[in-house]
Amino acid sequence: MNRFEDKIAIVTGAASGIGRATADRLRSEGGTVVGIDRDPVDDVDLAIQLDLLDLDAIAPTVAQVVDAYGRIDVLCNIAGIGHFARDEDETPEAWNRVIGVNLTGTFFMSQACLPHLLESEGNIVNTASTAGTNAQPWSSVYSASKGGVIALTQTMAITNGRSGIRVNCIAPGGVETPIAGQFAVPEGIDLTIMDRILPFHRPAQPFELAAAFAFLASDDASYCNGIVLRVDGGMQA
Ligand SMILES: NC(=O)c1ccc[n+]([C@@H]2O[C@H](COP(=O)([O-])OP(=O)(O)OC[C@H]3O[C@@H](n4cnc5c(N)ncnc54)[C@H](O)[C@@H]3O)[C@@H](O)[C@H]2O)c1
Repeated sequence: MNRFEDKIAIVTGAASGIGRATADRLRSEGGTVVGIDRDPVDDVDLAIQLDLLDLDAIAPTVAQVVDAYGRIDVLCNIAGIGHFARDEDETPEAWNRVIGVNLTGTFFMSQACLPHLLESEGNIVNTASTAGTNAQPWSSVYSASKGGVIALTQTMAITNGRSGIRVNCIAPGGVETPIAGQFAVPEGIDLTIMDRILPFHRPAQPFELAAAFAFLASDDASYCNGIVLRVDGGMQA
């Protein structure tokens, strides 16, 4: 398949996990991929280091992409951070950090790309989570950030849909990536409540999510707009 030939795709979170696998997948299908991450990104056409918490740096970063390639066809907002905490122990710093990367970063990357996507009739694929579609214990802020991504996706899809842009999101379940290290279970919790978020069969591998990102980002999904695609192995079926 060469679904991304002549397409310029931005992938955030491209240094690791699902973002890394998605960058590889889009490139394997002919895409020119700009990998954006706070960490260095390898094996992309253009790598840009950006901390999404630095909101003032987002528009100049997107301008750098347009300077280099003249257009943007696809934005995959995949960068994200995880977090578990007892509600009693949550801090404003952690709340703002998780919302800042997962939700605010997603919106302002989309805003900066929007004029270019309007021109190319391109699309955005955001990253929600099953934590945003159903309860995930001990993760109020993470779940809120992902529920926010779903609301943002649907709203931007409707606001911009008649201009030819599609905005969709993927809700992964458990995927074997380094983010697991950020979900340190609080001590002394009732572990039986965790049953509801255990993988139904096995965790996904990043390439299995990349296939879904590539589908939604491609013309194969030309009539998908505002959808939440659960890729969770049946966990929430
Ligand atoms: N792995 C899972 O089980 C799972 C489940 C549901 C949703 N997700 C979501 O999938 C996305 C990708 O996660 P992953 O599992 O590949 O994790 P990962 O930790 O392997 O990758 C996340 C990437 O985001 C980057 N990043 C984090 N903070 C950033 C910032 N401030 N600025 C720029 N880049 C930043 C990291 O450097 C990293 O490269 C996240 O949005 C995550 O919430 C993951």
